[in-house]
Amino acid sequence: PDIAKLITDLPKAELHLHIEGTLEPQMMFALARRNKIDIPFRSVEEVHAAYNFTNLQDFLNIYYMAANVLVEEEDFRDLAVAYFDRAAADNVVHAEIFFDPQTHTDRGIPFDVVINGLLAGMKEAREKHRITSKLILCFLRHLDEDAAFQTFRMAEPWFDRIVGVGLDSSEVGYPPSKFARVFAAAGKARLKRVAHAGEEGPPEYVHQALDLLHIDRLDHGNRALEDTELTTRLAREAMTLTVCPLSNHKLQVVNDLHNHPIDRMLARGLRATINSDDPAYFGGYIGDNYRAVAKARNLSREACVTLARNSFLGSFLDDQEITPHL
Ligand code: HPA
Ligand code: ZN
Repeated sequence: PDIAKLITDLPKAELHLHIEGTLEPQMMFALARRNKIDIPFRSVEEVHAAYNFTNLQDFLNIYYMAANVLVEEEDFRDLAVAYFDRAAADNVVHAEIFFDPQTHTDRGIPFDVVINGLLAGMKEAREKHRITSKLILCFLRHLDEDAAFQTFRMAEPWFDRIVGVGLDSSEVGYPPSKFARVFAAAGKARLKRVAHAGEEGPPEYVHQALDLLHIDRLDHGNRALEDTELTTRLAREAMTLTVCPLSNHKLQVVNDLHNHPIDRMLARGLRATINSDDPAYFGGYIGDNYRAVAKARNLSREACVTLARNSFLGSFLDDQEITPHL
């Protein structure tokens, strides 16, 4: 009967996690000191006080600033290892993690430093916790198509170590259509395609992600519910939605967790999953997200099991890797 224990015990896949969003204030200070980078905070308390954002852009401004402390390969490895240690405690057995190379290459950090560090952390997690993981390279949508193509070319030697491409950052005003060509190139390179859409942006952006970017998975997708036909289509196509309850509340995609649509999504036949997005900023890791939304929406045990099962169905693991989790 203890749903919190059930949630902890359920093996899970995490499908919507920005590795830069796992940078805890403690590590931010340690890396700032190690790399002699100035940050506008003097204490962990000051950092927490600054996390008072109520929309995506205000969050992103702090998130990009904090990423400045990540400089050396070892920093990216430490960041990933800290995430996987925390994820292991929540019984995450597989994670497909986003990284934002442009956040780093635009300030002179070589692409290879970023990806080598992350891959080293992923290897350590596999050995230490038996957690498997994959990397998804995200393009920053507030930057232009040329910049996305440059990043795509830079990543080309690494395509065998990247499962797919994604699209993140400021949504409204930066429609998926801007990136149709680079996503087509990614598809040609046999990479999976995912995109953030319908977090702050309208249902039209979800349509574009489906029809112009040919996505394999939809990140957030909350606002798709405003469009009944679109919702029916997503259900019919068994599109996985990577939903992030604490992020949705913190960024005011939902005004109150008690109004979170997670159970409505399941009721409409959507393959919804629970994820943490940027856990160091939004107040919790994946287990916290499950527990908070289960409590706020009075989710059944069956619903929690379905959400965890969906995370494997929606993953980019092979069928034979998924089957033991169903
Ligand atoms: N939305 C868009 N971009 C992001 C997010 C998000 O939730 N987290 C990190 N980059
Ligand atoms: Zn996200």
